[in-house]
Amino acid sequence: MKKVYVYKGFERFWHWSQAGLILFLAFTGFEVHGSIHVLGFEHAALFHRVASWMLIGLIIFAIFWHVVTGEWRQYIPTTQKLAEQIRFYAVGMFRGEPHPTKKTGLQKLNPLQRLTYLGFKLVLIPVTVISGIIYMFHKSIDKNDLVVISDIPLESVAFWHTLGAFLLMVFLVVHVYMTTTGRTITSNIEAMVTGYECEEEEEAAEEPVGGVAGAPAAEVAEAAEKKAGEETGEKA
Ligand code: HEM
Repeated sequence: MKKVYVYKGFERFWHWSQAGLILFLAFTGFEVHGSIHVLGFEHAALFHRVASWMLIGLIIFAIFWHVVTGEWRQYIPTTQKLAEQIRFYAVGMFRGEPHPTKKTGLQKLNPLQRLTYLGFKLVLIPVTVISGIIYMFHKSIDKNDLVVISDIPLESVAFWHTLGAFLLMVFLVVHVYMTTTGRTITSNIEAMVTGYECEEEEEAAEEPVGGVAGAPAAEVAEAAEKKAGEETGEKA
């Protein structure tokens, strides 16, 4: 068994804080919506606003981190091995077939994850956050005559925000289910806690899928060279 370092410290912090905040926002948001009654409307609305500022802050840090580290390249979509990956989730994994793609620090997302997470980052989160911000400032901005946001009917803002919230919940359920499809039921979650993914020796020695669209060629070449060196060293 070989340990591969996949998720960096900030990435793990960002992942779990984002998950916690989204769950808390769902809990308080659905109380504002009237679906549950635990904290009371006033408290739920206050906590929802505080948590939403925390999420906005976290998103700003995460965007900065992705740009500075070049990790945004992990999300560049690719069709390479996409069909194999879909087939694996639909049929292969129930037959005990091996994963068609391997996870490495340079390429931590499979082609289906790239598409899904890109949609999450570019559509789902922006729809929910932007509609939330418009919701928050719907009256106050208009009062100061800065931007006439109140021209957008509050009902439609609430509709898009609630739709985003429901879709985020659907995403969460599917996402948690998908985490169980790793080497063992908990191996993917463990990797997001410790940063390390365990792989069978021969799996770890396999070529990462195309270095695919993500990592820059130089990094891929460097990693391949390093691996070749390690292999030669091991054999000697
Ligand atoms: C930065 C992100 C967010 C902002 C700025 C935001 C802001 C708001 C605001 C201002 C309200 C109206 C309640 C009030 O007056 O305080 C609201 C309602 C609500 N929020 Fe959020 N929110 C955010 C994220 C989320 C997330 C991630 C979820 C769920 C996963 C969510 C679910 C809801 C729901 C269900 C409602 C009730 C909508 C209604 O029935 O009108 N919100 N949000």
